[in-house]
Amino acid sequence: MHKPILIIGACGQIGTELTFELRNKYGAENVIASDIREGSNALMQSGPFELLDATNYAAIEDVVMHYEIDEVYLMAAMLSATAEKFPMRAWNLNMNSLFNVLNLAKEKKISKVFWPSSIAVFGPNTPKKDTPQSTIMEPSTVYGISKQSGERWCEYYHKKYGVDVRSVRYPGLISWKTMPGGGTTDYAVEIYHEALNKGTYECFLNGDTELPMMYMDDAIRATISLMDSPTEKIKVRSSYNLGGMSFTPKDMAKSIEKHIPGFKVSYVPDFRQEIADSWPSSIDDAAAREQWGWEPRFNLDQTTNEMLKNLKE
Ligand SMILES: NC(=O)c1ccc[n+]([C@@H]2O[C@H](COP(=O)([O-])OP(=O)(O)OC[C@H]3O[C@@H](n4cnc5c(N)ncnc54)[C@H](O)[C@@H]3O)[C@@H](O)[C@H]2O)c1
Repeated sequence: MHKPILIIGACGQIGTELTFELRNKYGAENVIASDIREGSNALMQSGPFELLDATNYAAIEDVVMHYEIDEVYLMAAMLSATAEKFPMRAWNLNMNSLFNVLNLAKEKKISKVFWPSSIAVFGPNTPKKDTPQSTIMEPSTVYGISKQSGERWCEYYHKKYGVDVRSVRYPGLISWKTMPGGGTTDYAVEIYHEALNKGTYECFLNGDTELPMMYMDDAIRATISLMDSPTEKIKVRSSYNLGGMSFTPKDMAKSIEKHIPGFKVSYVPDFRQEIADSWPSSIDDAAAREQWGWEPRFNLDQTTNEMLKNLKE
């Protein structure tokens, strides 16, 4: 039987689906969901839940001791677009929550940690196409700075204290169960809702902005597969590049038009354009493929099929 797992930030876009999948795999009682707020009815009814502030070390420690938690997935964070509005709150949340979990592992109160990084660790001076695993990283956003620092700390805790921490740099994630939480790639979810509800969409990025993206099922599979991999296969302890697909808002509009003829998108870039312009357009994920067998399954048209089918139901 798998030892108990705690998910912190379980009510968000990724946490919700991660909770469902881990509960399917290991049993509902073995996966404790937690967040600073309650989540969807489906999530709240699917198993144990604790209200928990990720910045409160003592509170996390209590939950870890109470449920004899072995692994923590830390999904609480402030995302890229919101973090630009509240820089200090973003820094405090993104860094202190990570230190809390890394320190619990350092003290051997838990044995494994998953912490997500992001393509936001890269910056305007990074090679944009097929961005390598190791390259220039000069993030220009608060969020990117926090993720870059987080990566360095994860590697440090692994080397100095033997902490088993694992991480991927998620691209923009597309899902239908939960709305996105204030990122620069949120358009790629909103567009499907508006296509079905209104037949039009006003996009906050310009139509030619190519970004790395991934369907949520692939992201969840990557996360669990990395956590299940034998320790000796995990050579990267900062964070792995993770590729899915790359496309522009115009590509996405075309993909949707195949299902909804006459679907119209207008482009009115806002402050998020500058963030998007500083990020890669595609990702080289050879290290993840070679070391723990990563392979994406969903392309843009398959994602569109899944999104429209599920949102219609
Ligand atoms: N969604 C993406 O496209 C994407 C891409 C790259 C990286 N990531 C990373 O993945 C992780 C999860 O992202 P997401 O999209 O699910 O974010 P989200 O905003 O949808 O969810 C974050 C959750 O954290 C919770 N939270 C906020 N403050 C908290 C606190 N103090 N204590 C406990 N919970 C708190 C929120 O209530 C929310 O439910 C984050 O680290 C994010 O940076 C996401």
